[in-house]
Amino acid sequence: QTPTEGSQMSTNGVVSKGAEMQTVGDNADLFSESLISPAVKASLQEVGYTIRPLRRSDYSTGYLDCLRVLTTVGEPSQTAFNERYDFMASRNDTYYILVICDSASKVVGTGAVLVERKFIHNMGMVGHIEDIAVDKNQQGKKLGLRIIQALDYVAEKVGCYKCILDCSEANEGFYVKCGFKRAGLEMAHYY
Ligand code: ACO
Repeated sequence: QTPTEGSQMSTNGVVSKGAEMQTVGDNADLFSESLISPAVKASLQEVGYTIRPLRRSDYSTGYLDCLRVLTTVGEPSQTAFNERYDFMASRNDTYYILVICDSASKVVGTGAVLVERKFIHNMGMVGHIEDIAVDKNQQGKKLGLRIIQALDYVAEKVGCYKCILDCSEANEGFYVKCGFKRAGLEMAHYY
């Protein structure tokens, strides 16, 4: 259902691909399901969880509440959420957001990788890992690790030569367990 290469998405969310016309519904995946690591999917299934790309319908499945463990989210309206989702969906070679759901289909974990295209490193591509969050009641069950493994898989599969992220000192140990190492220093300029 996700627009594929060569397809065109109009502003009303209709994908035309040759003679085919496809409506992109609220349950369409943000990006191709084929980019979800089969190994991560299998290990989560064993313990009763599913992993998949974000969907527009995740406005109502606990996605925003899950993000609240990370930072301030606000109370976006469904319209505002849909507009932001549609923006990302129209650039689905750049925004990859995935979610882990429990057996009741509630979102209990999420993470994103944004793919940056560079001129340096032979037109290299870098994955930026962002907004990793696991529901408070579900932390410590390796869901965070699975999210990072799944994002690493996406980044490698789409052609990134590395993934980078910023985190607090308190989370350094988690990312080390996920295979990352400290490299450089984060600087910020807030507006
Ligand atoms: N410090 C050191 N080690 C840790 C930490 C930590 N803060 N958190 C987890 N670990 C270890 C675990 O003990 C486990 O080790 P083990 O393999 O020896 O058992 C390993 O890391 C994997 O842990 P998970 O169970 O997968 O971690 P969890 O599912 O709880 O997710 C996370 C970790 C994402 C940090 C979660 O606690 C969370 O959502 N925190 C609040 C939001 C947050 O801070 N997100 C990260 C922001 S940075 C960013 O988004 C780029």
